[in-house]
Amino acid sequence: MNIDRHGRTIDYLRISVTDRCNLRCRYCMPEDGVAWRPHDAMLTLEEITRLVAIAAQEGFSRIRLTGGEPLVRLGIADLVRNITQTPGIERVAMTTNGILLPKFAKDLREAGLTRVNISLDTLDPAQFTHITRWGDINDVFAGIDTALRVGFNPVKINAVVVRSLKQDLLAFAKLSISRPLHVRFIEYMPVGDPQGEDGLGWSVQDTIPNQELIELINERAEAGGLGRLIGLNSATSPEGWGPARYYRFEGALGTVGFISALSRHFCKECNRLRVTAEGDLRPCLFSDLEFSVKAALRSGDDDEVRRILCEALAAKPDEHHNQVGTERLMSQIGG
Ligand code: GTP
Ligand code: 5AD
Ligand code: SF4
Repeated sequence: MNIDRHGRTIDYLRISVTDRCNLRCRYCMPEDGVAWRPHDAMLTLEEITRLVAIAAQEGFSRIRLTGGEPLVRLGIADLVRNITQTPGIERVAMTTNGILLPKFAKDLREAGLTRVNISLDTLDPAQFTHITRWGDINDVFAGIDTALRVGFNPVKINAVVVRSLKQDLLAFAKLSISRPLHVRFIEYMPVGDPQGEDGLGWSVQDTIPNQELIELINERAEAGGLGRLIGLNSATSPEGWGPARYYRFEGALGTVGFISALSRHFCKECNRLRVTAEGDLRPCLFSDLEFSVKAALRSGDDDEVRRILCEALAAKPDEHHNQVGTERLMSQIGG
């Protein structure tokens, strides 16, 4: 087991399988995309699988595939299959924008993926196209329907809340009532300087602290006759390895979760290590400190991969201290 020097068990590996995406969410990626790294700069699927095998020997048992958009990576279902068959790996999940789920969900499910988190920040079609620069919200709705139909469980919706976007939060929360959907409101994190001219000029003032958000939703829900959100505990919350805290409306099939990345950081419970598509291990989302395992993987030197993995674990900070990294965009880290 990996216990880091701050006493935390680190057993959750978030692997970004590509920095490319079929959307361009303004808080995540510039319109032209990032200077795409050539394909050979990225870990191959075999290299990712090898890294997972070594990480599993070091105590990692839960894997999340992220991007960019993981479903644009060729051979993604094969990768899922290889990872789920790796001794020591218990669960594999994915965070996706959902657009390609109608195409891949069945294969992914058969390959052993058990659950997906789908990113969707608004329910308004025009606002969705604006945020993503060209997306069609109906594609995401189709992705959500497919995810439920093929039996992913739980299916979560990730909504990044931005004050100046004025999203209809109650409409979002209500998605959790009649279907088993778990809607999660995420505090916007100004990572990777999204405030350039391609961005919306959002700043830390656009982060709505979760506590304020919960009050806001409760007020509107009460006014709409839904009652207040009821707090859940770990036994009654949907399966999750992340920091979300969950609530439920009386009688609802799904839940409403909150991820307070900034207002109440959860670094004390941090259980994860990240890998970028290029094979850089990132001990903390917010810090630019990284350790490359690519060369070691390419030379087939498993002991060296193991040593670097342990080095990255040892470098996990106690908390992010609000030092937000700027060298990579969210899309290059995988959230
Ligand atoms: P579950 O296992 O379903 O709970 O997923 P998760 O919350 O671990 O993963 P997901 O990819 O859905 O991430 C949801 C949000 O949490 C994203 O905005 C992430 O950027 C954020 N997040 C995940 N891990 C961390 C972390 O270590 N630190 C911070 N600050 N935010 C994180
Ligand atoms: N702040 C908060 N969440 C973000 N995500 C992407 N960028 C940000 C940001 N700046 C979310 C995506 C996705 C998850 C992996 O991270 O919406 O659901
Ligand atoms: Fe693509 Fe997700 Fe980034 Fe949007 S948030 S551009 S869907 S990777």
